[in-house]
Amino acid sequence: MNTQTRYLGLTLKSPIIAGSCGLTADIDNLIQAEQSGAGAVILKSIFEEQIIHDIKRHTKIIASTDHYGDSYDYIAQHVAEDSVDQFFSLINQAKQKLSIPVIGSINCYSFENWLNYAKRFQDAGCDAMELNMAILPYETSLSYDDVDRLFSNIINTLKKSISIPISIKVSNYFTDMAKFMQQLSWIGIDGITIFNKSLNIDIDTDALALKPAPSLSTEGELYTTLRWTAILSKKLRCDLSASTGVHTADDVVKLLLAGATTVQTVSALYKNGMAYLQALNNGLQNWMQRKDYTSIDQFRGQLAIKANEEASMFLRTQFMKYYAEIE
Ligand SMILES: Cc1cc2nc3c(=O)[nH]c(=O)nc-3n(C[C@H](O)[C@H](O)[C@H](O)COP(=O)(O)O)c2cc1C
Repeated sequence: MNTQTRYLGLTLKSPIIAGSCGLTADIDNLIQAEQSGAGAVILKSIFEEQIIHDIKRHTKIIASTDHYGDSYDYIAQHVAEDSVDQFFSLINQAKQKLSIPVIGSINCYSFENWLNYAKRFQDAGCDAMELNMAILPYETSLSYDDVDRLFSNIINTLKKSISIPISIKVSNYFTDMAKFMQQLSWIGIDGITIFNKSLNIDIDTDALALKPAPSLSTEGELYTTLRWTAILSKKLRCDLSASTGVHTADDVVKLLLAGATTVQTVSALYKNGMAYLQALNNGLQNWMQRKDYTSIDQFRGQLAIKANEEASMFLRTQFMKYYAEIE
């Protein structure tokens, strides 16, 4: 059974990837991911705040922190414990001990300070970079054009500094998701990951205080990812990696049928351990065997919306089938 997949110009043994999270900051977990058949690993993101802290620590240059306001000191205190150096030693160890691709990740929303860090990821041996573009339109002052410009500036500037493949990981907060993703795929990135799951807030009603909402995804969260994978996969000029809500091997199969190049999983690994990647791989292979497929390309994208098809008509038909019971 051949589950080989080309992703970001790299050859992966399996389309199933251990996505970026705290688990992928640990070398033993990365080794276990490889032993359990992961096609690649995406390291925990290095955060812009860490980079700024590191720049200050090493160069004594006062980086611009104005836009963090009072929260900067709080953030800096925490990131200081999680030094940038640890990241680079993790990359070195991962490159020595793993044979699957190691993908670095930067969590960014501005670009002044961390461009040369992407280069350091490349020099440390990362096979590709995933930019965790945490740009969310929270500000009433932020327009569509501002977001568009920020994305283009970051991508274009990074492309000039590094030569390894770049993918971007986005949230699903876009008014014109399909058009915007297609335009991004035209400016020369190698892949788009849909979607990052933004950490929501919750409220402690006894303490009258904000607290983080649960960070792990639930099974039902697959459907937004599935819908957009089916809409976008044939309309992009780059690879598409599907993330959020992947909990079972059946979820992996669905996303591949919808046209995903690769599928990332995180919450399922927190719940079941890294070895669960083996169960996902076995499930994928069993399904392929049952359906007489010998390679992923034989079925990838079979249920995606076609390149020349109108997504709205396709989805309207599904809607009518359900509500009007017309077949
Ligand atoms: C504890 C935790 C830490 C995470 N850290 C990162 C991170 O450093 N960088 C990143 O791009 N995504 C991070 N994520 C998001 C995941 O990569 C993934 O996009 C999200 O959890 C949705 O996928 P899932 O449904 O498989 O969990 C994190 C998720 C969790 C639960």
